[in-house]
Amino acid sequence: MKATTLLKKDHAVVKKLFRAYEKADKSDATAQKKAIFDQIAAELDVHMKVEEEILYPALKKESDQDGVDKLLEAHEEHGVVKTLLAQLAKMKPGDETFDAKVAVVIESVEHHVGEEEEEMFPDADETLGLKKLQELGERIEHRKSELFAAR
Ligand SMILES: [Fe+2]
Ligand SMILES: [Fe+2]
Repeated sequence: MKATTLLKKDHAVVKKLFRAYEKADKSDATAQKKAIFDQIAAELDVHMKVEEEILYPALKKESDQDGVDKLLEAHEEHGVVKTLLAQLAKMKPGDETFDAKVAVVIESVEHHVGEEEEEMFPDADETLGLKKLQELGERIEHRKSELFAAR
């Protein structure tokens, strides 16, 4: 599978989890919120790692300055999400700022995913070509199973 297709599937999984989290939040299902949050954190952690290890560097090699700037910004957006996830990992859903932090994770990731799907991935599809995208897709798939197994 093309790397960009595979990563878009990850995005869809995470968005579904976001909606499930919001639903659990509305009905004050604290235990469920924690379980869904743990899944969100795992998916995001693995997804950001494979993008940073595999897609972003491959794309960077082929990018002009504008493309490199976009990649650097995307990297920083991952950093913001990682910081929040690290804080949330030490908290409980009942803590005062838990929901606020999760809300910012959701907003940040949705903004970031929008830019990836509307700008970065179409650029990658055009620049890297089908053969390279499929090769990167295989590497991503393999790395994802390693990372999930190590969690
Ligand atoms: Fe990303
Ligand atoms: Fe992504």
